[in-house]
Amino acid sequence: MVSSIHASQPGPGSSNPPWWRRSVVYQIYPRSFADGNGDGTGDIEGIRSRLGYLRELGVDALWFTPWYLSPLADGGYDVADYRQINPRFGSVDAAAELIAEANANGMRVIADVVPNHTSDQHQWFLEAVASEPGAAARSRYHIRPGQGDGSRPPNDWTSVFGGPAWTRLDDGEWYLHLFAPEQPDLNWDNPEVVAEFDEVLRFWLDQGVDGFRVDVAHGLVKDPDYIDLGDETEQILGNSRRANHPFWDRDAIHPIVRRWRAVVDSFDNERMMVAEAWVLPESYGKYLRPDEYHQVFNFDLLQAEWDASEMRNVIVTSVGKAAGVGSTPTWVLSNHDVMREATRYGLPKDTKWRVWPIVGPEEDLDLELGARRARAAALLMLALPGSAYVYQGEELGLPEVWDLPPEVLDDPVWERSSHKQKGRDGCRVPLPWTAEEQSFGFGSNGSWLPQPPWFGQYSVESQTGVSSSTLELYRAALRLRRQHCIDDEDIEMLDLGEDVLAFSRGGGLRCIVNFGPNPIGLPAHGSLILASSVEQGGVTLAADCAVWLI
Ligand code: BGC
Repeated sequence: MVSSIHASQPGPGSSNPPWWRRSVVYQIYPRSFADGNGDGTGDIEGIRSRLGYLRELGVDALWFTPWYLSPLADGGYDVADYRQINPRFGSVDAAAELIAEANANGMRVIADVVPNHTSDQHQWFLEAVASEPGAAARSRYHIRPGQGDGSRPPNDWTSVFGGPAWTRLDDGEWYLHLFAPEQPDLNWDNPEVVAEFDEVLRFWLDQGVDGFRVDVAHGLVKDPDYIDLGDETEQILGNSRRANHPFWDRDAIHPIVRRWRAVVDSFDNERMMVAEAWVLPESYGKYLRPDEYHQVFNFDLLQAEWDASEMRNVIVTSVGKAAGVGSTPTWVLSNHDVMREATRYGLPKDTKWRVWPIVGPEEDLDLELGARRARAAALLMLALPGSAYVYQGEELGLPEVWDLPPEVLDDPVWERSSHKQKGRDGCRVPLPWTAEEQSFGFGSNGSWLPQPPWFGQYSVESQTGVSSSTLELYRAALRLRRQHCIDDEDIEMLDLGEDVLAFSRGGGLRCIVNFGPNPIGLPAHGSLILASSVEQGGVTLAADCAVWLI
């Protein structure tokens, strides 16, 4: 056994580091988690009724995707009022009670903040539309005259969801929306916008949240001259290689982040911020300077193919990047924007999973393989140093509902991509809690997206107490992680062959994942404390399986 790298990074006051450095954060998509009032949409009451489940699962924190007042044109990432809760979900008082109850159950709470754009139903945008060109109310957004005779948009930028990034108002001016037309981009050069978000953060910190996930954190600032982009391939959400990109990852973002950090730091009790910033490795550290974000989401694991060397590179690079700036890495296998990994890993290598539900072929999907790999990936992620973000249903091994009929699709991506991509509804179908009941226990009156007949077999009820189930695997992994993986942030990569990813943690736990087609012999060990597959006998490790050894 040859040691290949050693990255060690003791956190500040490593005996008692801030909670967020080593947490497992469970992402709740409130609309699809649990429906307490029987209207077919998940809500705060439903979440409160399931806090016991989350506590027993063993997660350290909950992250709620936006629950604010919103017409839900983009699932709530179109906020009409940042200080109100969508009445379909509850009220601010109910949210504050939920936060307090979660805290009382030992779980921290992270709220989502959406500063790049508002809803087109936000008071500010309604005022902007009602005012004259050139009025101050328009300068809170990017509202510009068109080119030529005004009938051409101000420049060539296109929306992340497809189509032009500009929509024309009735009076002839155009407004910018990097996402859907219902999501006008705010103008962060306007001091009123800057001041407003300081207050929005304070408002939610006063309600007790322990931190914020900041949406599209790399997009806030736009080129003041609105220069053409020229190359459409640079349009995609991040990972752009272009220096001085007109709307991604601009330097002027950082003074804004420093303001927010000062606000967050003025509250006690280790409040934090994690950025959703799709940026290149060389930019990553800038967001993590000591007076900026505490963490940045790292989507590299999610984007990696099922391949030992690709995953190994991701881990080594991510650990190194975070260590270099005194933070800890974050790990994500799925979220509300991507195909669930139990399906993704069941598709042939290099499949473009965003378009696969349209182009197929269906025979390419091997759900058994996907489930095996997803379970192994869970053990891989949960043994790593730093924080893991687990998306609701991931702990059930829930596959993507990739074949939702077009008439029920709600995600703007479907229309904006001219039906080339189905969008993200397939990972947002309401959770199955029971095997047989109405809506599989999600609620008493249907669910806003249809659940497939096979959902019951993945329900919490069907898996609870079944030792071979994915839910029990997660429960065990979270318990053992607390015992073996959170006392330090050390990781040592081990060389067990090309197709094997192996590492040991400071406390002695070894995680071994076999990416190859054949079983491998396990190295000598004291005991095998967890295996992703029950067929694992303790001597060999089957293909697409993982074990934890001590
Ligand atoms: C969120 C998406 C959302 C987009 C626009 C993202 O990064 O995760 O769900 O559509 O921001 O707000």
